Amino acid sequence: MSALPEHIEPLPTTQVLRQDEGIFASIKARFLAWRDAQLLQRRFQQWALSFPLTRPIARRQAVRLFDLCAGFIYSQVLLAAVRLDLFEMLSQGPLSLQEIAKRLRMNPDAVGRLLQAAVALALLEQRSKHAGLDTRYGLGMLGASVLSSPGLKAMIQHHALFYQDLADPVALLQSRGSERAMAGYWAYATSEKPSELHDVAVGDYSALMAASQPMVAEEILASYNFSKHQHMLDLGGGEGVFIAQVAARYPRMRFTLMDLPAVTRRAALRFEQLGLTQRTRCVPGSFLSDPIPTAADLVSLIRVVHDHDDAFVMQLLRKLHQSMTPGAKLLLAEPMAQTRGAMPVADAYFAMYLWAMGSGRSRRPDELLAMLREAGFARARVLRQVMPLQVRVLLAER
Ligand SMILES: C[S@@+](CC[C@H](N)C(=O)[O-])C[C@H]1O[C@@H](n2cnc3c(N)ncnc32)[C@H](O)[C@@H]1O
Repeated sequence: MSALPEHIEPLPTTQVLRQDEGIFASIKARFLAWRDAQLLQRRFQQWALSFPLTRPIARRQAVRLFDLCAGFIYSQVLLAAVRLDLFEMLSQGPLSLQEIAKRLRMNPDAVGRLLQAAVALALLEQRSKHAGLDTRYGLGMLGASVLSSPGLKAMIQHHALFYQDLADPVALLQSRGSERAMAGYWAYATSEKPSELHDVAVGDYSALMAASQPMVAEEILASYNFSKHQHMLDLGGGEGVFIAQVAARYPRMRFTLMDLPAVTRRAALRFEQLGLTQRTRCVPGSFLSDPIPTAADLVSLIRVVHDHDDAFVMQLLRKLHQSMTPGAKLLLAEPMAQTRGAMPVADAYFAMYLWAMGSGRSRRPDELLAMLREAGFARARVLRQVMPLQVRVLLAER
């Protein structure tokens, strides 16, 4: 066994072993200890690669590990392709390397390198066999998906800020301050007086949320039937994109949007442009320090709760519960931890993202359900969804 690095405290020599948690837990713990010991053995690794039944597993693990090492570079290839509008350029049809380099006014060698990487990552496809300046490139499956999703493009572009904070991930984990690039971007996360944030401070994040909201709204609309409701309050409703999507589907409903003053000004403009002024009301203020509008029979909290620490969330949920009329429903949707098939979304991506932001965390559905019950809500449950990737949806009743 190798010596421990200096920054790790050695265990006390009289380490207290954990109490046995039952026969099955004990067998499982012994098996995992045996497996870990095997995985560390060079001989076992060689055997796993040579034995036909374990070979595919060993290969898959090796590829997964390499993907983890190289993931940052993959992201940079994607960012470069988005910044150069490569997918837009190829949306009209395939082009040769020479034509692409000419249109980008870039060195063909450098462009060739980017195209090669983008093909390997399924962002593009090579459409002719020979390699050279005449090689033609077209959209790949993933490149086409990025092109058709303005929200995704906006997310990819804003990651440049997140990468600044991640340049030293250990330093990032060792601090939790407001000096980070991400904390500056999400100004309300660490602000003492969020209501006083001006237009410039909210503009970028509000535009990003507006661009990415249609993907989220689609998922929520597919999981809940709004037809029994007359009036929805969208708390922290941003620029009003979610309300606009629900309004288009349910023409008899009315809506109230509460958000910080600089954000509701943007929402009011959107509602005016969409001809929704008669059916909507914008309430500027902070949902923690100002009164929450009453009279809605449905309240939505979309991608709001995960931005805040537990004490803040409990205060908000209790206040919300008091403001709601008996029988009114609460719809809470956001990415949630421990989601099968989507673990990296909330448990890796959002966990680190919210840490960099300086407030909030990814919570499991059962944690959120417990918080809702503690705040007084009844019949709190997880709604069934087709694709619980970006958000999961909870419903509770006042
Ligand atoms: C992550 S965004 C989500 C926006 C929108 N619900 C969506 O899904 O697109 C969080 C929203 O909460 C708002 N917000 C943050 N703190 C707030 C507060 N104290 N009072 C009211 N709104 C707040 C922000 O301005 C922002 O619009």
